[in-house]
Amino acid sequence: MRDRVTEAVPALVAAAVAAPSMHNAQPWRFVHRTDTGVLSLYGDPDRALPVGDPEHRGMHLGCGGALFNLRVAAAQQGWDAVAEVFPDRRDPWRLVDVTLEEPDTVPFDRGLADLFPAVEARHTNRSPFSDEQIPPEIFDELCAAALLEGARLAVPSDWHADDLVDLVHDAELHEAASDLMRAEIIAWTRTGRAGEGPAAEGVPSYAFGPRQHDVKVPVRDFGLPRDTQRATATFEERPQLAVLGTETDDPADWLRAGQAMERILLVATRDGLATSMMSQPLEWPELRSMARDPASRMGFVHMVFRLGYGPPAAPTPRRPVADVLTVV
Ligand SMILES: Cc1cc2nc3c(=O)[nH]c(=O)nc-3n(C[C@H](O)[C@H](O)[C@H](O)COP(=O)(O)O)c2cc1C
Repeated sequence: MRDRVTEAVPALVAAAVAAPSMHNAQPWRFVHRTDTGVLSLYGDPDRALPVGDPEHRGMHLGCGGALFNLRVAAAQQGWDAVAEVFPDRRDPWRLVDVTLEEPDTVPFDRGLADLFPAVEARHTNRSPFSDEQIPPEIFDELCAAALLEGARLAVPSDWHADDLVDLVHDAELHEAASDLMRAEIIAWTRTGRAGEGPAAEGVPSYAFGPRQHDVKVPVRDFGLPRDTQRATATFEERPQLAVLGTETDDPADWLRAGQAMERILLVATRDGLATSMMSQPLEWPELRSMARDPASRMGFVHMVFRLGYGPPAAPTPRRPVADVLTVV
């Protein structure tokens, strides 16, 4: 069993790193200990975003997404990935220890294995979506995906959706006034100009999507701080949104929310939806608290999804597995 696990670990990590992360910073690293067979997932403080993500909540969401992909890839191989969160009290960056269990001792989870093709197929899509309505059964499935991971997904009412779009406008004003925030976004975007960081990380300009004529849809304009020349386009009249949250707000909740985020995205991808995410207003504490629906039981919002039907989106780069995996 140990040898089989050791052989499979690079493929499991390759699936894990396909997860989304804020600004595609890929804030994770993995250590596989061959004596115990444990695969540990660490947050990487060198890839933190001190301005946009000072508490590292977004980092935990991304790492939770990577953990979810790891669970999917393990299930696809017929294993159950048993995760122990924060296994070492002295090391807060050691987020999860994963142990793979034999399929004959723990029956593997078909619901997870079925999501495996969506791991590679999922991409953040910042293009205009059509006005075609998503069937309510699909929203029900997405809400169930969140619940399975211990989080909650809510479809905002019209007034709440309008409020969310207003909050995005407010966040853009905050951003425009913050040299530090703009510098951080520039540091994590890639336009092909000289002096930019490594090409295997950050958001490439081909993923920015067109600029909106009139901002009605919550899509982050990664090109704005650089003032890049881009085509403009008309986006859908009423974006179809969903809000992910948890009742409490500690690092274990953030990991749970990250797994729920990825489960929602993979189910949506499997069901033929295009997806994008929006954390802009959640990066400012005074705006984040206004993003929740006061009538809902959702205590803390972690992500706003935009869902619909759109043209295909291209994959963004990832660092090679050898750069993020250490075998000891
Ligand atoms: C915590 C978190 C916050 C994010 N916030 C935004 C956002 O505000 N706007 C946006 O367009 N994308 C956002 N994203 C998506 C990332 O930019 C995207 O995952 C990353 O660039 C990698 O691209 P991919 O999702 O196509 O693999 C966020 C992702 C995560 C995990």
